[in-house]
Amino acid sequence: MYICPVCKDKLKRIENSWRCRNGHCFDIARKGYVNLLTTAKHNPKTAGDNADMVKARTEFLDKGYYRPLAEKLRDVAGEVLKDNDSPVIIDSGCGEGFYTAELAKLSKASIFGIDISKHAVAHCMTRVHLAGITNCQFAAASSFELPFADKSADMVVSVFAPVSNDEYARVLKKGGALIVVSPSPRHLFELKAAVYDEPYENKPNVYGLNKFTLGSEICFEYSADITSQADIHSLFMMTPYFYKTSEEGMVRLRALDDIEVTCGFVIQTYYKK
Ligand SMILES: C[S@@+](CC[C@H](N)C(=O)[O-])C[C@H]1O[C@@H](n2cnc3c(N)ncnc32)[C@H](O)[C@@H]1O
Ligand SMILES: [Zn+2]
Repeated sequence: MYICPVCKDKLKRIENSWRCRNGHCFDIARKGYVNLLTTAKHNPKTAGDNADMVKARTEFLDKGYYRPLAEKLRDVAGEVLKDNDSPVIIDSGCGEGFYTAELAKLSKASIFGIDISKHAVAHCMTRVHLAGITNCQFAAASSFELPFADKSADMVVSVFAPVSNDEYARVLKKGGALIVVSPSPRHLFELKAAVYDEPYENKPNVYGLNKFTLGSEICFEYSADITSQADIHSLFMMTPYFYKTSEEGMVRLRALDDIEVTCGFVIQTYYKK
């Protein structure tokens, strides 16, 4: 399944490393993931979400506020894969593995999570070990240069993460499915209204997926009561607004200790053309 990020040859697991026939070798970290980022292209120390962002997302997700989405995603994926008795699923931009671990519950599935952030994939390993999950593997890699062979996956899942038309089409088998989850227009609107004078609704993302056909689109919304200052702060840190908010906005944010928000997600299922 894995290919060498340098020469694209197949990687073979030999003891604690993945090796290709051309002598490139990638050691498995103590935590159990493999770093397939090449330093020539990415700085593995700074790529993707940093340790604080990963910690905030882990703390928030572990409170269960987005569990309904994880379960819905698993249902949608399960329905698409219902006739496949051993599906291979790639979670691209998997973060710290919250949705990956839920997808791992699909019967006989093999799940491969990749994220450009080493901090994130290290958390994924901790998560699966603690949960006793054995059908997930994780690598530090980019969605725009996936370390997987052509036509090797039945499904790619991308939850709030970068989307690559070319790479997803390359790694998917004929008829393979791509599930993309993005925020709905009303997602977290109440939080934005509490922080900004003129809150706006999210605009739909445009992905330019011309190698795919849209099969279905679901808007999945529910409301959640976020009941502590710490959770509100972690949630806000997960959003793109965090680094753009003025000091005045941050003061308003810190004053909140309970807020009912709309959690709204668009779940799109595409099929490879
Ligand atoms: C908003 S987070 C979503 C994470 C996870 N899917 C979730 O919903 O919990 C976006 C993730 O994409 C990762 N990311 C950013 N650029 C990437 C790239 N080029 N390739 C792979 N992952 C990337 C970040 O490190 C981060 O973990
Ligand atoms: Zn190689």
